[in-house]
Amino acid sequence: MTRAVITHGPRPGAHDVAPDVDMTTHLAGLELPSPVLTASGCSAAGRELDQFFDITEIGAIVTKSIMLNPRSGRPTPRMAETPSGMLNSIGLQGPGLDAFLEKDLAWLHARGARAVVSIAGGSVDEYTRIASKLRHVPEISAIEVNISCPNVEDRGQVFACQAASASEVVAAVRRNTAPGIPVLAKLSPDVTDIVEIAHAVVNAGADGLSMINTLLGMVIDTDTMRPALAGITGGLSGPAIRPVAVRCVYQVHAALPDVPILGMGGIRTGLDALEFVLAGASAVSVGTVTFHDPSAPARVARELAVALAERGFDSLEEAVGYAHRAADPKPAPGGPVAGHGHDVDEPADDTLDAGVEG
Ligand SMILES: Cc1cc2nc3c(=O)[nH]c(=O)nc-3n(C[C@H](O)[C@H](O)[C@H](O)COP(=O)(O)O)c2cc1C
Repeated sequence: MTRAVITHGPRPGAHDVAPDVDMTTHLAGLELPSPVLTASGCSAAGRELDQFFDITEIGAIVTKSIMLNPRSGRPTPRMAETPSGMLNSIGLQGPGLDAFLEKDLAWLHARGARAVVSIAGGSVDEYTRIASKLRHVPEISAIEVNISCPNVEDRGQVFACQAASASEVVAAVRRNTAPGIPVLAKLSPDVTDIVEIAHAVVNAGADGLSMINTLLGMVIDTDTMRPALAGITGGLSGPAIRPVAVRCVYQVHAALPDVPILGMGGIRTGLDALEFVLAGASAVSVGTVTFHDPSAPARVARELAVALAERGFDSLEEAVGYAHRAADPKPAPGGPVAGHGHDVDEPADDTLDAGVEG
């Protein structure tokens, strides 16, 4: 493995030139020229973003989760602002699989963008039927399985929250997906032990993991003194959830270092994305920030390249999981400067203290 020489502070002129860092990444056999993707549900099928930057230059567009049939979603209001984040209860509004294939996927293909198709269902049978239909669609780079959906056959229990139901869905999708197409299972942070769910879905055939989906939250309007969302609860996203997301990626990478992770949750800048990469993500998705900065995916990709160059990395892949490696020893007086020539092959203590006090 290459040695990454860690320097402290930006190199002179680092922001003036495009950094010479190989940003190629791999997600379960899928090679991407850039590690920055969009996040499902935050930019539909990428059409609107294409006015702000060239969507063929980012890793891929992750499309809004599609269900078998058209859905109108949950009643309004469906968005509420929160400190450093937002709460949404869109409820998987969408045109249904056939219209999605005809309009959105066909457009993405004609545009030359890579498409990671996110799918959702209310039953294992619905996921199976969607996957079977997608099997014959060649324009797909990967499938992301959104398992944060209520199971209509099990009292509305969310698939992602139980290892058995999460793996049942993933196994069904994997079975019905062409062998060369990676299946990424998208995990929810609303569980006691995300590593347990990660193990279960990987054993069920997931080729990679996307994490994290939104956290369940709630806002009460103090004027009306009622819940701010018509759906009462909603999914919390944005910078407020980033430390939770980074923790999830770190824990899962420590437990399953060979399983590629697409990390997301509150990424606004290249340095935010770098945190995910150092925690163990091979790629990242940029979501909520695109609502106020539609060029964010392209900007985050540029900033990430600069941040990697400033830290002495020649390639993105050298940095994946770097935070798990043993820290540099303190320099002995008169000894070598800490941080230079740090060997990325050094063994690390990956045990993560739960960190709960009081
Ligand atoms: C308005 C909105 C809609 C979303 N829709 C979906 C969806 O359809 N499928 C899905 O898997 N995740 C969906 N998400 C979750 C995001 O893909 C992402 O996992 C989460 O928001 C964390 O990333 P962020 O903080 O960068 O937005 C949605 C998030 C938002 C804010």
